[in-house]
Amino acid sequence: MKILIAGSGGREHAIAWKLSASPKVSKIYIAPGNGGTALEAKCKNLAIQADDVQALFKFAIEKDIDFTVVGPEVPLALGIVDFFEANGLKIFGPCQIAAQMEASKAFAKDVMTAAGVPTAKYKQFTRAAEAKHYINEQGVPIVVKADGLAAGKGVTVAHTMEEALHAVDDILVKKIFGMASSKVVIEQCLTGQELSYLVMTDGKTVIPLSSAQDHKAAYDGDKGPNTGGMGAYSPAPVLTDAQYAKVTDIVIRPVLKELARRGIDYKGILYAGLMVSETGEINVIEFNCRFGDPETQVMLPKMSSDLCEHFLAVIEDRLEGEKVTWHDGAVATVVLASGGYPAEYKTGLPITGIEEAEKDDVKVFHAGTTLKIIKPMQLEDTGDQDITELAEFAEDTDIDYPEQLVSAGGRVLNVTATGENLRSALDKIYKAIAKIHFDDMHYRKDIGHRAL
Ligand code: AMP
Ligand code: GLY
Repeated sequence: MKILIAGSGGREHAIAWKLSASPKVSKIYIAPGNGGTALEAKCKNLAIQADDVQALFKFAIEKDIDFTVVGPEVPLALGIVDFFEANGLKIFGPCQIAAQMEASKAFAKDVMTAAGVPTAKYKQFTRAAEAKHYINEQGVPIVVKADGLAAGKGVTVAHTMEEALHAVDDILVKKIFGMASSKVVIEQCLTGQELSYLVMTDGKTVIPLSSAQDHKAAYDGDKGPNTGGMGAYSPAPVLTDAQYAKVTDIVIRPVLKELARRGIDYKGILYAGLMVSETGEINVIEFNCRFGDPETQVMLPKMSSDLCEHFLAVIEDRLEGEKVTWHDGAVATVVLASGGYPAEYKTGLPITGIEEAEKDDVKVFHAGTTLKIIKPMQLEDTGDQDITELAEFAEDTDIDYPEQLVSAGGRVLNVTATGENLRSALDKIYKAIAKIHFDDMHYRKDIGHRAL
């Protein structure tokens, strides 16, 4: 089978790596992929962006792709699934209106309320004055959220009145999130431990994936600004197996039923971000309509069954009877970030030591990396015509130019290992990290601390 994956992060590298292990899969194209997917078995990167739906469609038709997998939320919210399916192509992910579960926080809250799913008390506003009045009534701490997709930056957990009011102005007055800024959702601040609860569903059958916990804060001890995630581990023992199994009945099934009542068929991954209080009370913080990043980098190494088969079973509406199985033990991943992330950071930093790091039972998934080809073309800048011609000539030959792996994003690498238990997985990871280098590399040294 030939598969197309849209996306460029650690999540997409993990999906490509897992699919490449399937005997059913002969070729995987990743649009645009990264420095890690470029080197993975059976894989080839494409110069197509993940949200360029038309270009992806054209490629899928031309190459006779068997099915497409969508990594990030943006193409889903743009309706890539509707478009592909309307034109007879197979694709894994929810349709546009179902992706509203992530793309509109107000929509997700409305569905949860109608479905009786436990979630923080909230109100939505389009006028700043009314939002501020509500905040004044409620007091702090309080959470202020832009309604739409804001690349993980739209949420402020405000501990002071000033922060909360400022966040309202940013969203509704300054409109800093553009289209995502039309509404604000203000909700009660929940406390406890977060848990990523992902299921695979064809709309009827629901199969929960292995539990995982992400670390959102940038620095050790859960300090510092919120990030896309600095590390993850699976399983996450914050819930017992029995409690974990019940989440499908308390959260997932009521939501799917409410969506179905509205005429919406949800297929793909449904990701519930949960807050588990000290007394074990569960509330839903948010929904995502896709795999988590970096949760996927631990969930897929933990999976022992064939991901390609599971994707097909969802796409073809026959998930019932499908067996998803898991390896024993624990998997962890630690994100190596570029200094300054999640604020300003440098890119283009040469990365060394990955091969060495992978020798001891460790897998390095790439996130923000790219392969920079070192070739005579670089001399073009001199304006020397002869050299340019030489470079063009060289490009037509089969010369293997040296390539340098460089950073291309804030989250650069995900150093991942499996162990008998979480401790042994983390030991392997931190030993491997010592062998990897790029300037200003930054990572958390306490991944998994809550489960140890
Ligand atoms: P979201 O984009 O909705 O996942 O929010 C990003 C992060 O903000 C979450 O992972 C939580 O850490 C935090 N957060 C969001 N909503 C709440 C809430 N109601 N109470 C406490 N923390 C929250
Ligand atoms: N790790 C959080 C997310 O994927 O949204």
